[in-house]
Amino acid sequence: MPIIINQEKTQFHLTNGKVSYIINKLKNGHLGHLYFGKALRIDEDYSHFQITDVPTGASCHTYVDDPAFSLETVKQEYPVYGTSDFREPALSIRQENGSHITDFKLVSYKVTSGKKELRELPSTFVNEEKEASTLELVLEDTILNAELTLIYTIFEEHSIITRSAKLKNNSDQAFSIERMMSASIDFPTKDLIMTQLSGTWARERHIHKRKLEPGIQAISSLRGASSHHHNPFMSLQTMDATEHQGEVYGFNLVYSGNFLAQVEVDHYEQSRVSVGIHPTRFEWNLSKDEVYESPEVVMTYSDQGLNGMSQSFHKFYQEHLIAPYWRNRNRPILINNWEATYFDFNEEKLVSFAKRAKELGIELFVLDDGWFGQRNDDTTSLGDWGEDRSKLPEGLESLSAKVRETGLEFGLWFEPEMVSPNSELNREYPDWAIGTPGRERSYGRNQFVLDFTRKEIVDYIYEKMSDIIERTQLSYIKWDMNRNITEAYSRGLAVHQQDEFFHRYLLGVYDLYKRLTTNYPHVLFESCAGGGGRFDPGMFRYAPQAWASDDTDAMERLKIQYGSSLVYPLYSIGSHVSAVPNHQTLRSTPLETRANVAYFGTFGYELNPQELSQEEEDMVKAQISNYKTYRHLIRTGEFYRLQSPFESNETAWMVVSQDRSEALVGWYKVLATPNNRKEQTVRLKGLIENASYQIEGLNRPYYGDELMNRGIPLTTEFNGVNASKAERGGDFQSNVYYLKIEK
Ligand code: GLA
Repeated sequence: MPIIINQEKTQFHLTNGKVSYIINKLKNGHLGHLYFGKALRIDEDYSHFQITDVPTGASCHTYVDDPAFSLETVKQEYPVYGTSDFREPALSIRQENGSHITDFKLVSYKVTSGKKELRELPSTFVNEEKEASTLELVLEDTILNAELTLIYTIFEEHSIITRSAKLKNNSDQAFSIERMMSASIDFPTKDLIMTQLSGTWARERHIHKRKLEPGIQAISSLRGASSHHHNPFMSLQTMDATEHQGEVYGFNLVYSGNFLAQVEVDHYEQSRVSVGIHPTRFEWNLSKDEVYESPEVVMTYSDQGLNGMSQSFHKFYQEHLIAPYWRNRNRPILINNWEATYFDFNEEKLVSFAKRAKELGIELFVLDDGWFGQRNDDTTSLGDWGEDRSKLPEGLESLSAKVRETGLEFGLWFEPEMVSPNSELNREYPDWAIGTPGRERSYGRNQFVLDFTRKEIVDYIYEKMSDIIERTQLSYIKWDMNRNITEAYSRGLAVHQQDEFFHRYLLGVYDLYKRLTTNYPHVLFESCAGGGGRFDPGMFRYAPQAWASDDTDAMERLKIQYGSSLVYPLYSIGSHVSAVPNHQTLRSTPLETRANVAYFGTFGYELNPQELSQEEEDMVKAQISNYKTYRHLIRTGEFYRLQSPFESNETAWMVVSQDRSEALVGWYKVLATPNNRKEQTVRLKGLIENASYQIEGLNRPYYGDELMNRGIPLTTEFNGVNASKAERGGDFQSNVYYLKIEK
């Protein structure tokens, strides 16, 4: 049983031999945090982890005769502000009398096998009850007459604990939740390095690190989407931890909207981690018997450095987040027409693309933006989800049938949450777009956001999408979201509920996703938000893959995909080979390198297949056939980051099969080095030392120990004098190696 309870001390120890998480009941009935880290032995009393020796007079305290017991310093599990703790709280409730003081004391607890999914929010799940155990700690504030439940799940096979919180009002008096974190943890030290994934459009999820300092350090989003700018992820590592060694704690919020992930270092060098919905413009009103549930946070502990953390997240998400229908299925190699045509296409052009794509070995044709309303540019028609007959005179059914006749599956782009001011939908229902009465609306890509807090709007969009799914036998949907929310206000909400808007909006989005994926489980969803603006586990619960970035430049993608891999499995990262000069950077990288980068994701093409030269066509055919060989590895293998694009001119990574008999290695060099006679090798990871691996393209086998300790030999670089021997040269070089144990 992975949840051990010391009844005498009221101590709860969640452990699975990999990780331990220990909670106790404090003297005042609140919950104390004792430990989160490497597994500790069971059947011990860990009360001594709570140090209460504050100098008398240095702080406020709970008891007149015990000045050492101060909430200002004690490590807590779900702290509040205002009763002697002066740090940022997990919970804040505004009551009818204007007070914010609460006093939640532990009254009961329950341990169950398995894990329940959250009611309205995406969350991780178990496939069988025996995979996990759940602890529910129930606290009560008797004056408020409210019940707070903290929910913890530990998984047998993963170094993972999930947390969420639930609040129920049992009284006749309503109150308002102003802040409710998914998790709060007090670490006993500040000697930690925080890692975050930050960026912007076209350069999402770059790795940034900082040493914790006294005060607050935070990342957040207030855009109504988890955002390109900060991913809802944060890790803390010990000062000596590296990519492959040392201790790392990872936190990832299963939520796609406004969030906060922060660390507050206090005056005793303790660090309080808070992760949850951002309290700015958040409020939730609870009347009698109503329940509010927070999103879930996934927490991992690794003693194998950042890479160990990533492997935990990847494996866990593959088994407990991504829809079971897609878990053991390869996903189709797709071609998307966006960069090839933008809005300028007709049926004939698209069908000829599909025919060509089929000859290349591609499996799915995706028609991107521009097929509906009268959309010849981005100023019009969002919301008018009927085909544009001037481009598709015979309709979507005809196009879909013709594409499917070529042997490809058919997919479509939607932007369900949006409406163009210039659209039939907006003319018919001008109050469906989000806006504050009496105020001008801000624009973003010439469009407004629909008020998804209103069920009738979500229902309307559901009907439109399901009709198209059925009549075109759709296999795939790219669900885009190209602008953030401004002038947030809903005509469907009461005055006192307006700060519920952002969360209710997300509930509407999730509701639509849930209905569509439940009723059409075979339709593959790829989420997208102007590229990677909503690349988060909330989305992955419904859409197993996400378009990582509008930036398809191979060199830029090294950073984006490397950063994304910190948390998200390779098989969730939408990555395409596109034309050069690249449309975002005007950089021209070799076709080989573009594919060598895109292999480490879901793989596809975003170019005009009819503009390929014979040589390029042969290369593309070979690339597609290679990916078909590799993709089970990308889907099921373990990923190792070997060299970081953030630290040098070279990047390397690899994926190894679970039985370690196969691997795929990618190596990339941004700029060529003149007169290079450095030993050119990359040290691999995760192989079997005494197994002999055959490397495709090399004429002799290599043992795992040599490959891991000396490295795989790279091809010879042009150095000015070795023209006859050189195998590569120029900028943007790369090699991909496929290794297999010799039989
Ligand atoms: C966004 C997406 C692109 C493409 C365009 C279409 O920018 O990220 O991939 O679908 O919209 O307008």
